[in-house]
Amino acid sequence: MKPTSFPPLKNDQFLRAARGLPVQRVPIWLMRQAGRYLPEFRRLRQAYDFFTVCRTPELAAEVTLQPLERFDLDAAIIFSDILVVPQALGMEVQMRKGHGPHFPDPLRSPEDVARLKAGDVHEELSYVYEALTLTRHRLQGKVPLIGFSGAPWTLMVYMVEGGPSKTYARPRAWLYSHPEASHKLLNRLTEVIIPYLKRQIQAGAQALQLFDSWAGLLGPEAFQTFAWPYLQRIAREIKRDYPEVPLILFARGAHHALPLYRTSDYDVIGLDWTMDPRQSRQAIGPHKSLQGNLDPAVLYASPARIREEVQRMLEAFGPHRYIANLGHGMYPDHDPEHVRVLVDTMHQASETLLQTSSTTASS
Ligand code: CP3
Repeated sequence: MKPTSFPPLKNDQFLRAARGLPVQRVPIWLMRQAGRYLPEFRRLRQAYDFFTVCRTPELAAEVTLQPLERFDLDAAIIFSDILVVPQALGMEVQMRKGHGPHFPDPLRSPEDVARLKAGDVHEELSYVYEALTLTRHRLQGKVPLIGFSGAPWTLMVYMVEGGPSKTYARPRAWLYSHPEASHKLLNRLTEVIIPYLKRQIQAGAQALQLFDSWAGLLGPEAFQTFAWPYLQRIAREIKRDYPEVPLILFARGAHHALPLYRTSDYDVIGLDWTMDPRQSRQAIGPHKSLQGNLDPAVLYASPARIREEVQRMLEAFGPHRYIANLGHGMYPDHDPEHVRVLVDTMHQASETLLQTSSTTASS
């Protein structure tokens, strides 16, 4: 299928907020909005394993659209996983029920970095591009489609640790025991991620998010040595070719990094729920859009309590240069009806706020 001539976009509120343009209401989408909290996703997962869904464009498109059929979300995010990149580099990844990802043969010594496939690995990832193109057509311009990648450091964490851990001591130890091999690995990942993201744009992605979910494992200096230079290079090189495509960075737990974003090439900064919206705005300055940051645990509360928290969050961020989201992903036991409360409340409350402020301004 040709990526050219996609249907015109009907709801551009997410892209407008990402670019710092005025909006009619605050746009909202949710990390992990497609997933196990939806019964229709669980039904499909009974028939297909996780990576089969990722690798089959028809299935990936279907799952991407599931939350949009239920809720008035302002963006879709392609169904895939950050771990398809280590797979493309030749590593085996299993998704274990209740345990998350498992690498049977992780990188255990610096020599193991040489095991990773060299050269262009993009044939291996063509199913992601096909899924994006198909989904973009299926969306019929309803909302924009977001592509994504894991950040180099977060991918390194999985590739070196191999499975769940209390301390993630192995990847952290590499930084001090094997700094050269660490940089070699991070460089190799960066070299793959840049063309991977560019091809996602060519295939139909209208914005891109970098997930540095394990940024919080790093102290400020380690972050500036092993995470930030690679994140900057990715943003710089994407922006050189695609200046109009919004780039979102979600570096979970990296409070100390907020001032670095001021002068970066990222358009939108994702905040987790431990970051204060007003302090974060102060640190980042007025020229970036912010995204986040409702504690996913709020979704376990009553609808009335959810409405209160959404209102508070909206007041803290303000309605401009703001994309509402959770501070991390959906949990499998969330009630879908509570997602509806979140989405509808954010829309209604922000529309009222924007109408009042425009009347006040013109009177
Ligand atoms: O709706 C969406 O957000 C798009 C799909 C998406 C998935 N993973 C699907 C998924 C996205 C954007 C991701 C990103 C991802 N994957 C991240 C970054 C975001 C974050 O959560 O910090 C990370 C760290 C991963 C790696 C990963 N994949 C983990 C740790 C797990 C297990 C956790 C869990 O929820 O079970 C996965 C599996 C995964 N990725 C599932 C989904 C829907 C659940 C697996 C299943 O269906 O059995």
